[in-house]
Amino acid sequence: KHTIMMDVDTGIDDAMAIMFAVKNPDIDVLAISCVSGNVGLDSVVENTLKILDAVEAPDIPVAGGATRPIIEKARSAAYVHGEDGLGNVNLPATKRRPLPVHAVEMMRQVLTDAPEPITLVALAPLTNIALLLRTYPECTAKIDRILFMGGSASVGNATAVAEFNIWHDPEAAHMVLNSGVPLTMYGLDVFNTVGLDAESVQKLAGSDNAVAKVLGGLLAFRVPGPEGEPDRAFSLIGDAGAVCALVANELMHSETCPVQVQLAPGDSRGQTIVDRRVHIGEDTIHGTAGQWPTADVIFSADIPKVLDLFL
Ligand code: BDR
Ligand code: CA
Repeated sequence: KHTIMMDVDTGIDDAMAIMFAVKNPDIDVLAISCVSGNVGLDSVVENTLKILDAVEAPDIPVAGGATRPIIEKARSAAYVHGEDGLGNVNLPATKRRPLPVHAVEMMRQVLTDAPEPITLVALAPLTNIALLLRTYPECTAKIDRILFMGGSASVGNATAVAEFNIWHDPEAAHMVLNSGVPLTMYGLDVFNTVGLDAESVQKLAGSDNAVAKVLGGLLAFRVPGPEGEPDRAFSLIGDAGAVCALVANELMHSETCPVQVQLAPGDSRGQTIVDRRVHIGEDTIHGTAGQWPTADVIFSADIPKVLDLFL
């Protein structure tokens, strides 16, 4: 069984990831921390609680954390996720309440109480995690791995080269990458390839099952395919793919690579620089081995099997 804490900016993708994690019998979600990202913190917290209702989750502790990145201003992506951050699916109001403590305090408590080290599944800008590691460095020993959705070894989405979560708070990403905690990176290289076709999404949306219906609604928000080619409509399962990587690592293709974040101002700020050169030893010109932190970077996945698992 995988015992995890999740850090989210719910967000359509995060909603699907929470649904999958809560429903998967091999995952035990100890707590969920929220951070400003896709939408503002208050909406993230509310959306997270509503999604827990939608899957009839047990009483999982949820706490709000950082309201903005470490240096950058908060920059919402409501244009991607709908005004409410949940694809305008209109979930009913919730009676769940967040804990009255900062997410960093909640995470520290959960880690302190955990008998064994646990995995952090980070699906949002890394602000909360960076603050946790800086404030309570002793917590590092209780984290066995940080599996994060973020970065890219190829294209970006927030900018030509930067992925949203890293671009939103590059300093936090830098702190996490250099923390010494083992890292798995589920970046855009794989994220952009794991999606359902329009027919499957319609089937979910039209289902009698309440959970499937919500899922279908979330997926449908982004289904439009290329103009005039409805057959190629394609809806990403988003951050849920990273949770699939947690339980089905054998479906993922990864390499251990040196990774750094570009912090300098300019067009490449927030880019993850992934060194895929074969000879990255000390004899390589401008070698990075031993100098840059490394991550297990997932580049691709066995897509049909991942979709099966998710559905
Ligand atoms: C990431 O950014 C957010 O929009 C999504 O929730 C996902 O975590 C993709 O770049
Ligand atoms: Ca997210």
